[in-house]
Amino acid sequence: MQIHEKIAGLRAALKTARRVALVPTMGNLHEGHIALMTQARVHGDSVVASIFVNRLQFRPGEDFEKYPRTFAADCEKLSTAGVDHLFAPTEAEMYPQPQSYYIDPSPEQANILDGEFRPGHFRGMATVVMKLFQIVQPQTALFGKKDYQQLMVIRNLVQELNLPIEIVPGDTVRAADGLALSSRNGYLSAVEKAEAPRLYRLLERIAAALRGGSRDFAGLEQATIAELQSHGWIPDYIAVRNRTDLQLPAFHDSGLVVLAAAQLGSTRLIDNLEV
Ligand code: PAF
Repeated sequence: MQIHEKIAGLRAALKTARRVALVPTMGNLHEGHIALMTQARVHGDSVVASIFVNRLQFRPGEDFEKYPRTFAADCEKLSTAGVDHLFAPTEAEMYPQPQSYYIDPSPEQANILDGEFRPGHFRGMATVVMKLFQIVQPQTALFGKKDYQQLMVIRNLVQELNLPIEIVPGDTVRAADGLALSSRNGYLSAVEKAEAPRLYRLLERIAAALRGGSRDFAGLEQATIAELQSHGWIPDYIAVRNRTDLQLPAFHDSGLVVLAAAQLGSTRLIDNLEV
């Protein structure tokens, strides 16, 4: 695997590539990321992973500083997974001057759900993803469904800006107890780790109720919030939404997704389940 810190070096290395598949990450890689790398091979003769902890998508007081940086271990995992190129730029390479042009998703996409609790997050995320697309110029880019709203924002970005990039989703990878793999799971204490799978179990319970014909979206959401609170969680939202635009579903809509974000101790976990 070739490791590139510089944009020029990566571009030179990709000059003769025919089909490039990109998997953007912020590092601290787990099996979910590795599954995306394996999936990427189907779409590209050159698989490019990127590792860049993007300051722009963190708000002051979030975990930018303490976000786990495990570069040596990540390189080993990527190399074992057969990744061809790792793009791992410094901040100075990505943002040589303060960023003054942004990709600003519409408020309907960016100010709901996670965007309501993390103002500016999707603007910072979409801006760095656009920069990565410009730098790598992939034919395909892969993103995990665990960040469901992120995936929707990126799909719309590609569509509205006519980028010739196919966006391929990767399924959420879970531990045996159901907990969605996340770089932030490492923040959990042993006790919190045992509690954390409750979030997924409750999503499954809502999904089962919806499949069984319930359309009491608000009732299901509120009961789940109350149950999480009774176990020490601080939920941001539990929301039944349409899969395509993440807006409130009408009574007869199908193609739903249940999304959740909740704080357990000092760790904010997100998860979702398609119905
Ligand atoms: O999902 C992530 O890890 C990040 O949001 C991404 C897409 C790499 C952009 O920084």
